[in-house]
Amino acid sequence: MKREDIDKILQQLEELKCKTQKEVEEARVRFLGKKGEVTALFEEFRAIDKAQKAEFGKPLNELKQRVQAKIDELKNSAADEGAANGPRLDLSMPGDPYELGSRHPVSIVRQEIVDIFRKFGYDVAEGPEIEDDYHVFEALNFPANHPARDMQDTFFVSAGHLNPLLLRTHTSSVQVRTMERMEPPIRVICPGRVFRNEAISARAHCIFHQVEGLYIDEGVTFADLKQAILLFAREMFGPDTQIRMRPSYFPFTEPSAEVDVSCNICHGQGCNICKGTGWLEILGCGMVDPNVLEASGIDSKKYSGFAFGMGLERIAMLKWRVNDLRHYFENDMRFLQEFASAPEV
Ligand code: PHE
Repeated sequence: MKREDIDKILQQLEELKCKTQKEVEEARVRFLGKKGEVTALFEEFRAIDKAQKAEFGKPLNELKQRVQAKIDELKNSAADEGAANGPRLDLSMPGDPYELGSRHPVSIVRQEIVDIFRKFGYDVAEGPEIEDDYHVFEALNFPANHPARDMQDTFFVSAGHLNPLLLRTHTSSVQVRTMERMEPPIRVICPGRVFRNEAISARAHCIFHQVEGLYIDEGVTFADLKQAILLFAREMFGPDTQIRMRPSYFPFTEPSAEVDVSCNICHGQGCNICKGTGWLEILGCGMVDPNVLEASGIDSKKYSGFAFGMGLERIAMLKWRVNDLRHYFENDMRFLQEFASAPEV
């Protein structure tokens, strides 16, 4: 091994110039690759005697470090191949558009309803989607043989028990849990997902969303219920909205009613959305049955209250004139993007 071998490489390194990354890589292979010049010197080093090893060990290591440093330096300064060979970069070009997601129509409507009732002093209460028979039916005065308790209508998780687990069919179960937990006055709304064993069609789905409400205090009357619904309808559908109540039946309310709002599309003239009637059905409601109050430990002689419940998909359908419920669940981008510009509520 000779000193000149090292100097020769140092000399070459001095003069080394690389324009592209490809050339840098070639230079690296030439010096440091398996058959590279520096590598060869290291191999030679292994065979030389002790005295020579002492002489060449340090310069050889320094050489290797300098080569590596030079390669790194060239790597940083050499142009990328693409840039050197390809077209020049146009830095004024706009970037790739990054598409932001948007709120789902059901969650837009839910938020709007929650905000309206918050203004009226209602709190939001939530509860489990997998419920027991007691909270969905029993405590709500459903008779033992009520059709809703049938497999045809309810998804059971564990059947055959005294108090089977099931997917809640309405969020009234959350109202029961609230009554168990709280003393009147109670003012809550319960938004949430519910499940019913229905064939999927344009008008029905096995999953949908509800907001239900409950108000219990001393001396609450049907007039209070009507006023609350009227105020809500006007906030939701516009200040000229009228409501109409039709007698109905629910096991947990007495008396019960179905509420229609004046069609906000034809303003009562009759159109295909309201099927020519001028009215759109939006919710069910009624005065909480005393049996329901007592079942949850509320004194029905002292307190009375009202409850109401509505389907969010249905309200969103009326709001945006969506004619098929299935759109809400299929996540077709073309449908979802329609709501990208919907007001942030
Ligand atoms: N729970 C009823 C339903 O799911 C709605 C409702 C709630 C009706 C409260 C009256 C009172 O259809």
